[in-house]
Amino acid sequence: MLGIETSCDETAAAIVVRDAQGAGRIVSNVVRSQLDEHAAFGGVVPELAARAHVAWLDHIIAQAVSEAGIELRDVDAIAATAGPGLIGGVLVGLTTAKALAAALGKPLVAVNHLEGHALTARLTNAVPFPYLMLLVSGGHSQFVLVRGVGQYERWGTTIDDALGEAFDKVAKLLDLGHPGGPQVEIAARSGDPSRFKFPRPLLREERLDFSFSGLKTAVRLAAESIAPLTDQDVYDIAAGFQLAVTDIVATRTRQALVRFKAEFAGEPIRMVVAGGVAANRAIGAALRAVTEEAGAELVIPPPALCTDNGAMVAWAGAERLALGDTDRLDFVARPRWPL
Ligand code: KG4
Ligand code: ZN
Repeated sequence: MLGIETSCDETAAAIVVRDAQGAGRIVSNVVRSQLDEHAAFGGVVPELAARAHVAWLDHIIAQAVSEAGIELRDVDAIAATAGPGLIGGVLVGLTTAKALAAALGKPLVAVNHLEGHALTARLTNAVPFPYLMLLVSGGHSQFVLVRGVGQYERWGTTIDDALGEAFDKVAKLLDLGHPGGPQVEIAARSGDPSRFKFPRPLLREERLDFSFSGLKTAVRLAAESIAPLTDQDVYDIAAGFQLAVTDIVATRTRQALVRFKAEFAGEPIRMVVAGGVAANRAIGAALRAVTEEAGAELVIPPPALCTDNGAMVAWAGAERLALGDTDRLDFVARPRWPL
């Protein structure tokens, strides 16, 4: 399966094999990040992203095919992200996939980007259904119950910002650069997390939703109350913020696992984490503690497969193809597409 991903600021293509037993193998996985294109703007500029996908996608596909040691006509089918995401970029990838499918006479699989994240743990760790997924990226923060391919139940989501977005906004107001998540994590290591007491919005409510915008405002007010900010102030604010979000994610995960246990009494409890924020070590450590305490198995795929990539799209396409589930060439790209 050739997989194409262009829904945000990564131009990516990969070749993935799914064998008759359902085991997956990544044969090639090429990602070109557009960090440089967007650096000056402190965030992803949709029009620039779409243009860069146009400029690079053919080369990235050619490289993925060549690294796999195959010819393009050898693939069984072509999968591309068809949403949700920045629509200009999605159109570039999906239209390219349609053209290849038409020219080669191969089936097209129009993949939901979130389904790509949701199924990655089956590619990397052969995780059986059902499992609970926590997706925490720049665009999404949600708990999804994954019952099977195409069988997803959203248990909770963010009512405002995504978690990665909150990291990015905090980084921006602390002048730490973009993308902010890794910068905030590094700054937090030198900080005192107890100096600033930040709120944990929604946490007293018994629901699996997230809210980060009040926390972000509290961080902004703290930063504005000190002028000029010293390096140590920045580290302490970053540490206080990271502790707050880690607490929020840990508490919600504990609740979600209780619900999973109740719904699947007697079944092994499995949890997978996806999205760029899964690379955060403080959050990862908290998730390990919470899952251990609940007797759950935790799978966090390697960082390169947690962030956007072509292999996750190829794999989701392969799982769908195995069920005979392909799409017509007039499939319309979807800027919004809940699982
Ligand atoms: O999944 P991803 O690569 O792209 C999508 O949003 O789909 O996630 C990117 C997000 C960004 O917001 C980035 O700041 C965040 O993941 N991120 C992190 C870390 N590494 C990446 N957030 C916190 N700590 C990190 N180490
Ligand atoms: Zn993503």
